[in-house]
Amino acid sequence: MSAPERNYWLDEACARAFWDQHKAVPYRELLRDTAQWLAPQTGERWLDLGCGSGQLTAALWDRSGGRLAEVVAVDCNPVNAEALDQLRRRLVPAPAPGQLRFVTANFSHGLPQFADAAFDGVVSGLALPYAEWKDPVTGRYTDFAYNRALAEVYRVLRPGGRFVFSVNVPQPRFWRILWRSLGRRPRSSRLLRALLNGLRMQGYGYWLRREAGRGRFHYLPVAEVGLRLEAVGFGAWVYRLSYAEQAYLISARKEAPTAAWPGEHTNSPRAGVSGPRAVGARPLLS
Ligand SMILES: C[S@@+](CC[C@H](N)C(=O)[O-])C[C@H]1O[C@@H](n2cnc3c(N)ncnc32)[C@H](O)[C@@H]1O
Repeated sequence: MSAPERNYWLDEACARAFWDQHKAVPYRELLRDTAQWLAPQTGERWLDLGCGSGQLTAALWDRSGGRLAEVVAVDCNPVNAEALDQLRRRLVPAPAPGQLRFVTANFSHGLPQFADAAFDGVVSGLALPYAEWKDPVTGRYTDFAYNRALAEVYRVLRPGGRFVFSVNVPQPRFWRILWRSLGRRPRSSRLLRALLNGLRMQGYGYWLRREAGRGRFHYLPVAEVGLRLEAVGFGAWVYRLSYAEQAYLISARKEAPTAAWPGEHTNSPRAGVSGPRAVGARPLLS
């Protein structure tokens, strides 16, 4: 049997590099767009899959005014527990014990630690494409874990529950994110910091693109993501472009709703998206 290949998501240095991601302009755009599509209600339970430093957990907290029953933030890298501890200390109102939980788990193995219909909502930022599975017989990477992760999200959502997530577009242009991160009129100290962190991120970006090219990671066209959502049972889904046009932000429901929900657009389906339940949102270009 071949040795497992290096996974930088498990490296402490990689996790810490991504903690600074929220300072970059394109990421702030994605965070704002995602937060607009989250509509957490008092008493709900949410799951943040691939939470990193917990930016989306914080967005859930802020938008609910801290009135959620629970947010469970999951990541495969245990060092992110440290970032969640820092977050817990600065959230307002401060979470009560058990209201914000970090769990180290790898969603490539599914979500066996969570019961059916355990959550009202699942959010995930730029993480799902990294569900990986190597076929033990052929030794080749397949999309099995990606599809299983979608099916698992569907299982752990209650009927009517929402799944709001972002994924990179096919062949993402990470240099474009770096360029936009530098800002229009940056001060020289900020420029240097943004440049240094951006260059470090380009290294991880190179690895991610290379592995996606080998079929290990999955940067899929949005129509393809939509078909997979429908295949595991999701009803209507909508999307828009964000993150300097390098990510799709997608919102899906466990069951086809009978009425529109906040933020839903009902424009014509985009090319390649078909079927009565697929509703393409007009992409916004900046
Ligand atoms: C690009 S970062 C995004 C972090 C965070 N969602 C955000 O929006 O800032 C991707 C995150 O997914 C996590 N991740 C990657 N593969 C994972 C897996 N198989 N299971 C759990 N977490 C994973 C990484 O550790 C990393 O924190």
